[in-house]
Amino acid sequence: ETASKGGYEHFMLKEIHEQPGSLRNTIHGRLNALTGTVELDEFPAETFADVEQVQFVGMGTSYHAAMYASSMLSSRGVPAYAFQAGEYGLVRPPVTEDTLVIAVTQSGETADTLDALRRAKSAGADTVAVTNTVGSSITRECDDTLLIRAGPEIGVAATKTFCSQVTALSLLGERLVEDITGTRTSDGRDLVEALSRLPGHVQEILDTSVAPALAQELEDSDSYFFIGRGVAHSAALEGALKFKEITYEHAEGFAASELKHGPLALVTPDTPVFAIFTGFEDDATLSSMKEVQARGAPVIAVTSKTDGEIAEFADYVLPIPETHPDVAGIPASVQLQLVAYHAAHLLDRPIDKPRNLAKSVTVH
Ligand code: G6P
Repeated sequence: ETASKGGYEHFMLKEIHEQPGSLRNTIHGRLNALTGTVELDEFPAETFADVEQVQFVGMGTSYHAAMYASSMLSSRGVPAYAFQAGEYGLVRPPVTEDTLVIAVTQSGETADTLDALRRAKSAGADTVAVTNTVGSSITRECDDTLLIRAGPEIGVAATKTFCSQVTALSLLGERLVEDITGTRTSDGRDLVEALSRLPGHVQEILDTSVAPALAQELEDSDSYFFIGRGVAHSAALEGALKFKEITYEHAEGFAASELKHGPLALVTPDTPVFAIFTGFEDDATLSSMKEVQARGAPVIAVTSKTDGEIAEFADYVLPIPETHPDVAGIPASVQLQLVAYHAAHLLDRPIDKPRNLAKSVTVH
């Protein structure tokens, strides 16, 4: 087992460090950085020309990747919605034959996600699986599949598969935007170009992160909060999920603007707040950051703006490289994976196999 961990103490740390390579695999042959175009063999241009709306379904970390993708599409003018797969049957969103349902699942075997997919199919939707697992149940049941190619993930807490899911969904998203809106934009080209630089950006974080020292500074806290907007909201929820899964400490993610509508009551000097800035409509995050700080909470800004107002107000900064705002949530998530890992390590938790959790939940 030590050998298969490649010299790392835990599979989770190994998998966090594998991300430059796994992300390279995810994008390999699927984009042209020079022209800023997406080149998906599975989905040539015009594949989705008739799609009217996109619904994403997933659970846990995969739901957060689904939310991330849905924010990206919505902000580009494509009607898109993310659902926790387990709720999909109750919500019964309208589905027509022009609805595309994208099932996001690392294992391809999650019972709730398979159920949601079957409901969508029987209502007439076209279906695509975004998964890490060749030949999994979801690939057999969906019309088409986009593999995320992250390689095997052993740690129960998903890390490299989250970043590869978001990356694969960004590529697929760009194809959807072009096909559905009928336009290619310079923003789309910038996004594709930013994805091509992502493996290098993640490597920079792995080489320089101050997460181990930060985890030590915050060790005696009561609760940990994570806030952000848009794709940074998804990254905040994922940061909190990672933290609670492996540290067993109380951690919650919120939309930055929601904080003052309730969660602020919990904020004290013993509740560090991680504020994630991706560079798109971040003002509400900045004002929430100031609100929590006024109540004595230590603030950790995850941002590329290391010399502006954000860094000035923050107590600590976890830097991320300057990149496209919709890509920035990925390096931010890597910083938060490292914080969660080192916090759990200090608490001596069984990081790869947290109590009560399974890698894949195949029953209801
Ligand atoms: C379990 C795992 C999570 C995972 C979720 C969905 O709860 O512990 O890490 O995000 O299932 O799994 P999937 O294989 O569908 O992505």
